[in-house]
Amino acid sequence: MTRILTGIQATGRPHLGNLLGAMLPAVGLAQDSKKQVFCFIADLHALTTLPDAAKRKEYTYAIAAAWLALGLAKQVILYRQSRIPAAAEMAWYLSCFTPYARLAHAHAFKDKVQQGLSISGGLFTYPILMAADVLLYQAAQVPVGKDQLQHLELTRDIAHTFNQHYGPTFVLPQAHIQEETPTVLGTDGRKMSKSYQNTIDVFLPEEQLYKEIMRIPTDSTPLAAPKNPDTCTVFSLYRCVADEDQVASLHDRYVTGGYGYAAAKRALTSAIQERFASARKRFNSYMHDLATVEQRLVAGEERARAIAMETLTTVRATLGYLTDSL
Ligand code: ADP
Ligand code: TRP
Repeated sequence: MTRILTGIQATGRPHLGNLLGAMLPAVGLAQDSKKQVFCFIADLHALTTLPDAAKRKEYTYAIAAAWLALGLAKQVILYRQSRIPAAAEMAWYLSCFTPYARLAHAHAFKDKVQQGLSISGGLFTYPILMAADVLLYQAAQVPVGKDQLQHLELTRDIAHTFNQHYGPTFVLPQAHIQEETPTVLGTDGRKMSKSYQNTIDVFLPEEQLYKEIMRIPTDSTPLAAPKNPDTCTVFSLYRCVADEDQVASLHDRYVTGGYGYAAAKRALTSAIQERFASARKRFNSYMHDLATVEQRLVAGEERARAIAMETLTTVRATLGYLTDSL
């Protein structure tokens, strides 16, 4: 059975980029009963940038609730990364097959350096833990946004190096990218990311959502003049959430003129409200019933641990260590 796996960091509430780039594609793939799907909350990765324990816990539940609200099939294994200690052990083994130079060239790491953040060993070795997440479950496909391609390349290279040393051990994973979903832009026009505070939280009530959308900077083209949809962040976001006819009609309004950015922002708010109306309802009810979310996580963690231990046992044996449980 093909295994599919993806994770979302517990560094904030899930946003439109997470939903379109990774969560909805995974939910879609999980409809196929011939695929075994693993969805997890990367709460260990989150520690690299979020030391606040209470917040990390809150976001962990919010991401789990979002998975469930989006209609994650019952058979999907949903779990918290931190509840599977095999990942940390695996990460150590893999780190010994990861060239230092590859880590130093990782975009995500260079980006944090550029932001002037102080870099911990955890942040530097972040891609190795990600490789462990994937290889531990022998996942063949990994639905992620384009920004994660480099991490997936590194995962494949680590797996390949290990296989060359010891014979076939790991499945080489492929990134599963939604070609039609470009990188979703944030309210400042950069990539939407929890680490830039530019996210759109689709589960907010309408007026709060509108406030987030109002932050999007637009140019100073006068209301009467035609506007360029191709350079407008509001339009780019609208294209991600509205249907084809709606997009064509907004496009017309832009190029004709007489249509202002405030109206476009209202249209974007309504499109998001509509598209996620039922998911929003379910999300709120899960957030008021965390016992149900917790139950689903615990059940997933039991299954994930058993599968992870199979791979870990093989790897321990391959590396010449004892294989019995401690
Ligand atoms: P963030 O950048 O907000 O911290 P994560 O790193 O937890 O988000 O990303 C989780 C998943 O969501 C990854 O597969 C990532 O590629 C995807 N993703 C995040 N932001 C975007 C975006 N702006 N557009 C498309 N996909 C995204
Ligand atoms: N690094 C991913 C991100 O920031 C999150 C993640 C951690 C992940 N482990 C993973 C994604 C394994 C896919 C598979 O988006």
